[in-house]
Amino acid sequence: MTWYKICETQSFAQQISQGFEFTLNQQNYHLFIIKQNQQYYAYQNQCPHTQAPLNWQPNVFLDSNEQYIQCSLHGALFMIETGQCVHGPCLDQFLTHLATKIQDNWIWIAL
Ligand code: FES
Repeated sequence: MTWYKICETQSFAQQISQGFEFTLNQQNYHLFIIKQNQQYYAYQNQCPHTQAPLNWQPNVFLDSNEQYIQCSLHGALFMIETGQCVHGPCLDQFLTHLATKIQDNWIWIAL
């Protein structure tokens, strides 16, 4: 496991969620970060139902109430804090969580 700098915390001043796509060591990564209550939660952008990406618009990963992570394909809802599906076809399955840390005003993720 290695820590990678993903973005500055300042980039969450205006938005609550962001998606990121990049290649590291010839491996493609698709992930997203949610900011809630001054905490950052990161997950792989892959729904446990069909392995599809969750979002259909860039940087939009939450439902309209900004209470749950929502899969745009079949509407599964996931807890922001745990990634557990609480509604939809993959009930009780989990998004793949990624560890985060904040250092020098940057968000780092363990990959
Ligand atoms: S692909 Fe996410 S709910 Fe079906």
